[in-house]
Amino acid sequence: MLTGGGDCPGLNAVIRAIGRKGMDYYNDEFVGLKNGWAGLMFLEYYEMQRKDFSGILHLGGTILGSSRTNPEKEEGGYDRAIKHFNELKLDALVVIGGNDTLGVAQKLHEKGIPIVGVPKTIDNDICSTDMTFGFDTAVAVATDAIDRLHTTAESHHRCIVVEVMGRHSGWIATHAGIAGGADIVLIPEESFDINDVIEKIQFRMNRGKFFSIVVVAEGFELKEEGWDLQTQEKDDFGNVRLGGIGDLVAREIEKRMGIESRAVVLGHVQRGGTPTAFDRVLGTKFGIAAIDLVHEGKFGMMTALQGTKVRPVPIEEGVKESKIVDKETYEIAKVFFG
Ligand code: F6P
Repeated sequence: MLTGGGDCPGLNAVIRAIGRKGMDYYNDEFVGLKNGWAGLMFLEYYEMQRKDFSGILHLGGTILGSSRTNPEKEEGGYDRAIKHFNELKLDALVVIGGNDTLGVAQKLHEKGIPIVGVPKTIDNDICSTDMTFGFDTAVAVATDAIDRLHTTAESHHRCIVVEVMGRHSGWIATHAGIAGGADIVLIPEESFDINDVIEKIQFRMNRGKFFSIVVVAEGFELKEEGWDLQTQEKDDFGNVRLGGIGDLVAREIEKRMGIESRAVVLGHVQRGGTPTAFDRVLGTKFGIAAIDLVHEGKFGMMTALQGTKVRPVPIEEGVKESKIVDKETYEIAKVFFG
């Protein structure tokens, strides 16, 4: 098994569930590939023992390590990955990852490698699954931060702009915005210009509310031209490093309205630390389902939460595009704007 992409609360719950059910019910043996696809490309691995699956349920991060290594960018590419898979005499590979990592899994599956996927990301942007583990923890962390920031915003009559993660989807922003009572939530899926933001804050002031909390997703872009924040820095999968929109929005509010404004970037705090009970349970369910899929020979499939049930869906379906925020949920957040 391997874990790839950004670390995510609940990864160890998945690893534990795969290992425990695999060893106790199926008599499986496990090889842990270290640091995502790098483990397969550079043959960094270890034979996992039963003790490796103990005492890890509550831990954040991943005991296997992770990376954004893309086999396509490495010498030998997929052929090398396949050669190493065969050299290790593996029967199957469980790949726990987000869109990028599972995209590689799909390609290797097409080339004949028996793979089962487990969708992972705090961003909640994988299709065909109602939720990914890690998302609930990220929303809980962001909500707690918003609650705490309310105190300063209200006491000092400030506007606080909270920038949250989520890549090009606004799931974390929308859910944390609803849970934390944000006065406006800016997400990549919805278009806003700075005047829309100012209008909402002004509306609040007219009602005697001299502080505001604005939640902005890191992938949000203001409509105005010339405010291109993207760095040219890209990871192995071509993703640009996002960040900075919170600061820009806060500066514009202060400049145009004269209200003291501050930006707070939550960053990797949202990804770190102990997973919520929900993410431990979802991760456990996904891990159990994944090892069962291996033994049923259902390769090319990934686990997915649909309603309250975990079901297998083709990895190809999960990674075909990024899942964006549905209108209904965003409309709920909008009721509380201003
Ligand atoms: O995909 C998870 C995520 O945390 C995104 O929300 C964020 O844009 C990205 O990873 C950050 O990646 P890194 O830790 O590699 O900078």
